[in-house]
Amino acid sequence: MIENYDEYKAIINEHLLDYIPSIDAKSSVLYDSMKYSLTAGGKRLRAVLVLAACEFAGGKYSDALPYACAMEYIHTYSLIHDDLPAMDNDDLRRGLPTNHKVYGEGMAILAGDGLLNTAFEIMNKNMLLYYDDLKELKKRINASYCIAKGAGVTGMVAGQTSDIENEHKKCSNEMLEYIHLNKTGALIVAAVRAGLYLGGANDEMMQDMTTYAENLGLAFQIADDILDVKGTEEELGKKTGADQKKEKVTYVSLNGIEASEAKLEELSKTAIKAIEKYYDNAEFFYKLVLMLQKRTN
Ligand code: IPE
Ligand code: IPE
Ligand code: MG
Ligand code: MG
Ligand code: MG
Repeated sequence: MIENYDEYKAIINEHLLDYIPSIDAKSSVLYDSMKYSLTAGGKRLRAVLVLAACEFAGGKYSDALPYACAMEYIHTYSLIHDDLPAMDNDDLRRGLPTNHKVYGEGMAILAGDGLLNTAFEIMNKNMLLYYDDLKELKKRINASYCIAKGAGVTGMVAGQTSDIENEHKKCSNEMLEYIHLNKTGALIVAAVRAGLYLGGANDEMMQDMTTYAENLGLAFQIADDILDVKGTEEELGKKTGADQKKEKVTYVSLNGIEASEAKLEELSKTAIKAIEKYYDNAEFFYKLVLMLQKRTN
């Protein structure tokens, strides 16, 4: 198993554009706009998780590559739409002007639509290769299904809905947790579970790693909330102070910085604890928790 985050990330960056269908020259601006946001940078966290979870479960990362790229397409679409004036109205992303600032709102919406649909196109195309191998096909159907569910109306889209509905309000911590677990946690959980399905994980590993990913996902969004206050535009590649400006409910707005950092620490520990029985085999996943937590130092 590859142990190094940057090695996985390099694999994703190398292959990320391989799965974009050749788009008709008449709509080349659509391709440009999708490519613009995909190649702007980013941590590739969800895609890396698909590859690492597949290997952790005993599979080959190359089998998971189309699913990992599909995850990154879905995540990138969610960012393009998240930045739109009708949503968070941001003008900087991954260190560059947001998609709609360059291509206009209409094209940014379509680039998001394009990335989302391409994700399912490539997963289905991959499944077709295995139609006469039921065992392998089932792994892929499970992976694609959990990605669809995580990205969908009981996952990320639901979280984004509540995020918008709770702007300018002071909601409960319970509602905040619902928002965070869905808008951000759901794709992170889906990435891990998809990778595990592809690698052939058993139920116990699936359960343990799901607990890990839920805690990681919540921790990740709390860190994002902290960084919106404490981070810099240069390191984040996006404007800071954006949550306060939009009067978003965040872990920091409800509980303050100190409590947010304590919560981040607690969730990180819980994530690690969920998989401690895997000892050294889970080193990549322990290190990842610490690496993401350290972003806020
Ligand atoms: C940003 O995600 C949106 C959140 C869920 C906080 P990332 O922080 O993973 O963004 P990139 O992919 O590195 O740009
Ligand atoms: C974004 O949360 C979650 C999704 C895009 C689904 P945020 O709105 O906090 O992300 P940033 O801070 O704009 O990256
Ligand atoms: Mg948002
Ligand atoms: Mg946003
Ligand atoms: Mg944010």
